Amino acid sequence: MNTGIFVTGVDTEIGKTTIAGALAAILNDEGYDVGVMKPVQSGAVSLDGKLVSEDTRFLKKMSKSRDPAELVNPYLFKAPLSPYHAAKKENAKIDIDRILEAYHNLQKLHDIMIVEGAGGLMVPLTDEVFIGDLARMMGAPALVVAHPYLGCINHTLMTTMAADMLGVETFGIVFNQCMAKKYPEPDFELLSQKSQAPVFGLVEYMEKPEGKTLVNHVRSSLDIPRFLQCVKEAIKGARGRQKSYEQRDKKYIWHPFTQMKDWIESHVTIIESGRGLTLKDVTGAEYLDGHSSYWCNVHGHSNHRLNNAVKKQLNKISHSTFLGLSNAPAVDLAEKLVEITPEGLCKVFYSDDGSTAVEAAVKMSYQYWRHMEPDTKRDRFLAVSNAYHGDTIGAVSVGGIDVYHSTFKDILFKTEFVPAPYCYRCPMDKMYPECSIACADLVDSALTTNRGLFAAMIIEPLVQCPAGIITAPHGYLKKARDICQDHNVLFIADEVAVGFGRTGRMFACEHESVTPDIMTMSKSITGGLLPLAATMTTSKMFDAFIGDYEEMKTFFHGHTYTANQLACATALENISMIKENGVIEQIQEKSAELADMLVRFADLDHVGDIRQRGLIVGIEMVRDKSTREPYDWSERVGVKTSMEAKRRGLIVRPLGNVMVLFPAPASSISQLGEMTDILYDSILKITSQE
Ligand SMILES: Cc1ncc(COP(=O)(O)O)c(C=O)c1O
Repeated sequence: MNTGIFVTGVDTEIGKTTIAGALAAILNDEGYDVGVMKPVQSGAVSLDGKLVSEDTRFLKKMSKSRDPAELVNPYLFKAPLSPYHAAKKENAKIDIDRILEAYHNLQKLHDIMIVEGAGGLMVPLTDEVFIGDLARMMGAPALVVAHPYLGCINHTLMTTMAADMLGVETFGIVFNQCMAKKYPEPDFELLSQKSQAPVFGLVEYMEKPEGKTLVNHVRSSLDIPRFLQCVKEAIKGARGRQKSYEQRDKKYIWHPFTQMKDWIESHVTIIESGRGLTLKDVTGAEYLDGHSSYWCNVHGHSNHRLNNAVKKQLNKISHSTFLGLSNAPAVDLAEKLVEITPEGLCKVFYSDDGSTAVEAAVKMSYQYWRHMEPDTKRDRFLAVSNAYHGDTIGAVSVGGIDVYHSTFKDILFKTEFVPAPYCYRCPMDKMYPECSIACADLVDSALTTNRGLFAAMIIEPLVQCPAGIITAPHGYLKKARDICQDHNVLFIADEVAVGFGRTGRMFACEHESVTPDIMTMSKSITGGLLPLAATMTTSKMFDAFIGDYEEMKTFFHGHTYTANQLACATALENISMIKENGVIEQIQEKSAELADMLVRFADLDHVGDIRQRGLIVGIEMVRDKSTREPYDWSERVGVKTSMEAKRRGLIVRPLGNVMVLFPAPASSISQLGEMTDILYDSILKITSQE
């Protein structure tokens, strides 16, 4: 739990190294164990046939650091260009992960790190990452070194604004007179007020800024007590934050799906940042995100391209109502959604999350029959046992998980349930494929028994995720769809969890060439950045709502944040990235590798079933493998296993006795390997104790 300061400049040749070195020496004199880092040195000099960084040597000397050069200065390039261009000239590419790993390793060794950037915050490191992004990823606030000459207010404030834009806090500002010419002192008060950061003062020109003389000169020029106070607060802040957030979380917050008694008695993990597959908490502990932040993150956390899409839209407008107005990203996205969803779905109704998308679908299908059959008796829905479609009351009505739903049974509308296609615990005691998917025939029986009374059937195509990753045998979906069509009952495919590639096709319905009457989607639609949902329909559905106003065919339904511009713009970028990066093809390849990694789980004494579709995995733990006897829910084997996995650095959540792995498509093969290793060891440990 220590901190770092990222020294940056309003320009290059501003004296960053001098200031960074002097401050490191001052901190050292004050009793801090100081580490230094120069992540990339371009314009490195050749000494005895070896490239060396003079800046790094200076920083190490001033801070008395004995850390190895490969950590202090992971990259050296000869050309005096931006790091990105200098690397490119040598056909090299800067690996940000390597820099961050070196930084984290150094951080562990020291009380405080002084990192010297290259040039200013907007200097490119790679084609995607700027120096300022690196500061953000390190979680280090920026100390801005500025020149005191004409234009200094403009340059300094542009730098602090860039820091703001990049999500980097400004630690403070130091003016450095890097040339002999004098100029009146800048307006510290105005700068401090506008940047909301302290100005520590101005260091006057020095002929040879070195050693003790430099340190004394900087000490006498700057407000060092104030600087030290800021350092103290930063360090104390890092230490105190976990305690403070944990206490206030427990005092003020009611968490979803959580017994708050347990929560209040447990340690609370406060996530502060995320990058790629890694989540980092306020104590600096890192975890692999094994459930892609509840099934929505696609390209990894802090993805530069997606972040930029949000920023770009932010600079135009964040939100204006969709009632009586439209907006560009919503129109573009609707067109794109029609293009990528199964043929026939051609209208998009926006809402905010999975539950609201389902709520709209349910109400639309109910109202549809009121328009089509004025004397209709269709007052009920058909769903699948163990179904989960969300937590608003309409979604709960078509839900079949007793633990979540039975409390509300008296206020729910009529829904009948057919048994889930749960092959491991077949409701009909049959074996696939000899069964010819007899469970789907139960859809026919239900619709026949109460012919003319059903408005729609709702189904989670291919995988009932919240039920415990229950994977339907191939053909179930199509059979159910065809039966509904034969009975003239609407068919709603809830793709909230499985949509956008998770199963190895853009939408799960594609696996069985199904076009539903209504399709719901959310979660991965924005790549996991912002809440957004869509309920898509065919023209048959849409046309049933068209008429003169007096006919009262309007769908009177909608939410304040419908078609929010930020979310729609993000979704558009997410879909472009899925296409351009070949994410679907990658999921197919990665899921084949993942399947290989899962084979050994079958040998575990208490693993009864392993279910996988694409990158969606459920591992069902059982008390007795031979009889398939489940663990009693009160034993909380799943909860204990996920806690063990967390101790080992993996965030996963169980669904009862089923361990769920739902990694982001951006996971690398080695990350999938790391996740499965941790999960294997955790299951082994917990089930051997029970
Ligand atoms: C299939 C399905 N439908 C709907 C929902 C509800 O989505 P939300 O939590 O965004 O309301 C979920 C959530 O997990 C889901 O898996």
